[in-house]
Amino acid sequence: MTRTLLVNARIATMRGGRYSIIDDAAMRMQDGRIEWIGPARSLAPRPGGGGEEAFDAQGALVTPGLVDCHTHLVYAGDRAADFEMRLAGASYADIARAGGGIVSTVKATRAASNAELRAVSAKRLEALMAEGVTTVEIKSGYGLDVENELRCLRIARSLAADHRVSICTTLLGAHALPPEFAGRADDYIDAVCTQMIPRAAAEGLASAVDAFCETIAFSNAQVRRVFEAARAHGLAVKLHADQLSDSGGASLAAQFGALSADHLEHAGEEGVASLAAAATVAVLLPGAYYFLRETKAPPVELLREHGVPMAIATDCNPGTSPSTSLLTMMNMACTLFRLTPEEALAGATCHGAAALGLHDRGTLEVGKRADFAVWDVESPAHLAWQIAGLRPSVIFFDGKRRS
Ligand code: NIG
Ligand code: FE
Repeated sequence: MTRTLLVNARIATMRGGRYSIIDDAAMRMQDGRIEWIGPARSLAPRPGGGGEEAFDAQGALVTPGLVDCHTHLVYAGDRAADFEMRLAGASYADIARAGGGIVSTVKATRAASNAELRAVSAKRLEALMAEGVTTVEIKSGYGLDVENELRCLRIARSLAADHRVSICTTLLGAHALPPEFAGRADDYIDAVCTQMIPRAAAEGLASAVDAFCETIAFSNAQVRRVFEAARAHGLAVKLHADQLSDSGGASLAAQFGALSADHLEHAGEEGVASLAAAATVAVLLPGAYYFLRETKAPPVELLREHGVPMAIATDCNPGTSPSTSLLTMMNMACTLFRLTPEEALAGATCHGAAALGLHDRGTLEVGKRADFAVWDVESPAHLAWQIAGLRPSVIFFDGKRRS
C-alpha cells in the first residue's frame, strides 16, 4: 500500500473545467487515488493512523497531470520535403494530391521495423512526458492496411510497459487512401469496416475509432459507415472534422455521440450547436493551424457561447504539427485562438480527459487518479506564456513520484 501526503501546495483542481486555487493545500493519496484534498488547516489525522510519505511542494503550483488527447506519434520518417514545398507555395491539399503528404509517411512507416518504429515513437512520448503529460492518446493512421494499422496500435500500447504514462489508442484506418486502393475509396472503407475495426476490437487494441472527413480524405457517407462499424463493435468515435473546409463534420460527429470533434477551423454555428447538444468535446489543435499557416481560426466564441468544452492537444504528427510540446500548444491556443490561460489549462487537463472519455482524471478531486505536476510558477499565465523551456519540477503518476 502506498500512502503519500502532499503539503504546502497551491492546488489548481480544475474541477468542472474551472480554475480556482486552494492555497496552502494538502492532498492525501492512497494506492494511486486521491483520498482527501483541501486546505491544510482542515486536514484531520489519517483515520486509523499509519505512516505516509510526505512531499513538500514548497508553495509551488500543482495542476492535474496534463492530458494530450490527440497525437499521431507512431510514425517513421519525416516530412521536411513537404515543408519546403509548402514554403514554396504548395498547399497541404496540393501536396496530398501529388502523392506526398500522409501517404509518404505511410511508406516510411510500413518500411520501418518494429524496433525502429518503437524507438522513434518512444522519443516523442518521452518529450511529451517531460512537460508533465501523464495521459496520451495515440492514433494509428500511417499503416493503412490491416496488419500495419494493428502493428502501429500494438507498438503504441507497448510503450506503456516501460513508460510511466497512461496510453489510450485510437484506430485511424480512415486517415487517407492508401495507394493500392487508388480510385477505390469505398473498397478501402470496406476493409476498414470489415477487417480493421473488428480485429482492433477483438484484440483489444483500440478504445476508439477516428476518421479524416475532408474533400482530400473521406466523405461523410464513408465516415458514417466507419462509425456504424465502430458502434457495432462497441468502440467510441472521434473525428478530424472541418479542418480545411466546412464539410458538416462537426454535425456528423455529434450525430454519432462522438467523444470529440477535432480541428474545427471551418465549423459553423450549426455544427457547434450540435456538438453542444451531444456533449461532444471540441479538440483545438493550434499547432496544425500554425504550421499550415491557416487563416481561419476555429469558432472559439461560438464554442464558448454554446458551452462546448474546448480541449487542447499537440496533434503530434509529421505533416501538420511536428511538435511534442503541449505547453507550446497552450501558448498557441492563447496567442492564435485567444483562449485565456485558464481555458488553455482546462483544455490540457479536464477537457482533454473528457475528449478521451476518461472520467477518472483531468481534475484533482477525491476518488480521481493521483496524477499531477508541480510547477515553480505563479499562475496558468506563466504556464502558457513561455514558448518552450518550461518543465514541471516534479511529476506524480499513479500516486508515485516520477521525477
Ligand atoms: O491531424 N488531418 C489529418 N491528419 C493529421 C495530419 C496527418 C499528416 O499530414 O501526416 C492532422 O492534421
Ligand atoms: Fe490529427
